[in-house]
Amino acid sequence: MNFDEIEEQDGIRWSWNAWPSSRIEATKAVVPIACLYTPLKEREEFVQNPIHYDPVTCKAPCRAILNPYCQIDVRGKLWICPFCLQRNAFPPHYKDISNTNLPPELLPKYTTIEYNLNRVAQIPPIFLYVVDTCLEEDDLKALKDSLVVSLSLLPANAWVGLITYGTMTQVHELGFEDCPKSFVFRGTKEYTSKQIQEMLGLGGNAMRPGQPASRPGQPPQASMSANRFLMKASDCEFVLTSILENLQRDPWPVANDKRPQRCTGVAMSVAVGLLETTFPNTGARIMLFSGGPATEGPGIVVSTELREPIRSHHDIERETAKHYKKAIKFYDGLAKRAATNGHAIDIFAGCLDQIGLLEMKSMVNNTGGFMILADSFNTAIFKQSFQRVFQKDNQGHLQMGFNATLDVQTTRELKVCGLIGHAVSGNKKSTFVGETEIGIGNTSSWKMCSVTTKTTNGVYFEVVNQPTVPLQPGSRGLIQFVTHYQHASGQYKLRVTTVARNFADGQSPEIANSFDQETSAVLMSRIAVFKGEIDDGPDVLRWLDRMLIRLCQRFADYRKDDPHSFRLSENFSIYPQFMFHLRRSQFLQVFNNSPDETAFYRHVLNRENVDNSLIMIQPTLTSFGFDEPPQPVLLDSVSIKPDTLLLLDTFFHVLIFCGNTIAEWRRAGYHEQEGYENFKQLLEAPVIDAQDLLIDRFPIPRYIMCDQGGSQARFLLSKLNPSTTHASNSPYGDSSAAAIFTDDVSLQVFMEHLKKLSVAGTS
Ligand SMILES: *[C@@H]1O[C@H](CO)[C@@H](O)[C@H](O)[C@H]1NC(C)=O
Ligand SMILES: *[C@@H]1O[C@H](CO)[C@@H](O)[C@H](O)[C@H]1NC(C)=O
Ligand SMILES: *[C@@H]1O[C@H](CO)[C@@H](O)[C@H](O)[C@H]1NC(C)=O
Ligand SMILES: *[C@@H]1O[C@H](CO)[C@@H](O)[C@H](O)[C@H]1NC(C)=O
Ligand SMILES: [Zn+2]
Repeated sequence: MNFDEIEEQDGIRWSWNAWPSSRIEATKAVVPIACLYTPLKEREEFVQNPIHYDPVTCKAPCRAILNPYCQIDVRGKLWICPFCLQRNAFPPHYKDISNTNLPPELLPKYTTIEYNLNRVAQIPPIFLYVVDTCLEEDDLKALKDSLVVSLSLLPANAWVGLITYGTMTQVHELGFEDCPKSFVFRGTKEYTSKQIQEMLGLGGNAMRPGQPASRPGQPPQASMSANRFLMKASDCEFVLTSILENLQRDPWPVANDKRPQRCTGVAMSVAVGLLETTFPNTGARIMLFSGGPATEGPGIVVSTELREPIRSHHDIERETAKHYKKAIKFYDGLAKRAATNGHAIDIFAGCLDQIGLLEMKSMVNNTGGFMILADSFNTAIFKQSFQRVFQKDNQGHLQMGFNATLDVQTTRELKVCGLIGHAVSGNKKSTFVGETEIGIGNTSSWKMCSVTTKTTNGVYFEVVNQPTVPLQPGSRGLIQFVTHYQHASGQYKLRVTTVARNFADGQSPEIANSFDQETSAVLMSRIAVFKGEIDDGPDVLRWLDRMLIRLCQRFADYRKDDPHSFRLSENFSIYPQFMFHLRRSQFLQVFNNSPDETAFYRHVLNRENVDNSLIMIQPTLTSFGFDEPPQPVLLDSVSIKPDTLLLLDTFFHVLIFCGNTIAEWRRAGYHEQEGYENFKQLLEAPVIDAQDLLIDRFPIPRYIMCDQGGSQARFLLSKLNPSTTHASNSPYGDSSAAAIFTDDVSLQVFMEHLKKLSVAGTS
């Protein structure tokens, strides 16, 4: 199978598909053994032929799940667990097993399988809306409209709740049709979890987090009292719609030189506290709709004084951002509580300026929430992205899983180093945990409060075998991923992927030939971005450079000290280019973006699969010209031609760029004249292709149309390799190619440096 087929079947792609057989050899390979894994990848097979039984597992403490790589003895009715090598008897109902009558989990095509467990959630998913009312009138109207529509998109059995906030926080009771009632919390005060419970009358300490939400068959007390605030969507749709429709802007007056008083921190702590008390360990999401920064109370990001600008990357770096550390600490605390209880937090920002996403992002990245950044709630980016959150599968179920855990188990030559993605540690210090930490480490289990069919995690491993303990020829390593989750239908499911790869001698070409440069580039990007959260930018770039040089030293062909002899085989040939673009990207060069934008871009990178991540790292560029089909062109300034249009896709932005001549003709209106139909078609072609890109993109990208020389064109130029800067005045250069003002090195210069450094001995 090739990489695509494996990805199709198992939702997984590896940096290496043959693994070095000892720790030393693995270290020399530079890029760790790691994968990008999409645990809930959509599979028609599991819908067509669902499996309705619980899996057969190995004895405790191993508990590995029966899979196609197990050795079986059909006569003895036994199977041997490849992880612990213990023998297990098949359960009695497997007595008719034979080589021609095997259960699905033993068939080679079920290296990934999904069990529908014999358990259904007692409590349907809960959606708690937290809505900012310090908005402009039309913005609030647009948001209210979207929220009302969303009620009809929720599963009928889902529970909903509403908290609104501005100067104060209000928790709305949904039980009363006649007179709307709400509980009010002051915006400036830090409430403890206990105070919140008492004020809402949630039965004091009747429920403690971690305690089961209900005894089987009996509705719990605290949940009953919460029923005033959280109700079945179908029962309260009328009341909730009317509360939303009558929602007014925050009445507190705002002076011209002030920001509105906005108590986002209190609102979120009330939301987290409400769910934590009433529904611990249940699938739920808190959806925050925020139109500006928190300006009062705990979690404040900036003061109400407009003359005090919101912090920039420079302020943070110089440690002059006044509220920064305190705010991070406050939201981290909420993030931890929500994650512990299995509750996801989404942030939908509708604001031209920043709202403090950077400070609040741990609430989203710890819990697998959605993050949407729009200029207002009255934009297609918000409206359409928000609707896509409620996308359904063919059976009419939301494409989201709740309260999930991912467990990893390895054969003994391998250990797990960590995970980079939207999860928190499950603190399971099993024997599979390695010494090296990459991302969220020290555990072989992670919790993901929300997962979608797209959620993709980076999982990193190390080889621990010593060269003195040689592996048997032809031996292979196994890794099993087990994801337990609550499906939107309420059904508990278990997705199991078991992977086997050969170990190969460090010097054999098998390892080099198994290199997946695309996946490796994305896995290294996640490490770099993770480091970027902790280390200085320049340190991260230097680390990336060192890793690239070492990889080339190990796998390129060259004669020592002779850069001209340097050759990379096809399997490595575009990897340096990915690193070049990654270095220049918004993920690592933060100063062209606001801190909120950086937080957003990094968040999205950490949840997407290989293909989408590559578009973010190295955007795609397509050229449209007369008399030629559209074709991919180099992400390079030489691709700008007066008589072509370009379509740039950065994942976050889709941009159509008209070359000078095309733009002039369009301005002259040729496309509206008879006899110029082909020009009209040429103008339309990239627009049609752009629509195709939007079909299943999430969030909806920003759409930009611009002309060569126009101000918006800067956006394209910033992504292009500056091969035609003013410094390079080669007489053979294409004189029509546009020049870029920049001090950046070009890809060509970068490659020259790389060759020189790689062939020059040690690094
Ligand atoms: C949610 O997940 C946790 C494990 O993280 C599990 O203990 C708990 O039983 C799950 N909740 C429900 C209602 O199944
Ligand atoms: C999530 O956010 C926290 C707090 O900002 C940060 O330290 C952490 O690295 C982020 N996690 C990931 C996987 O990016
Ligand atoms: C992981 O465990 C090691 C050793 O037990 C410890 O030194 C390290 O601080 C731990 N890391 C985290 C993030 O807890
Ligand atoms: C890597 O090289 C090997 C041998 O040349 C080839 O079979 C394999 O398909 C290549 N892989 C990729 C991703 O190009
Ligand atoms: Zn076992």
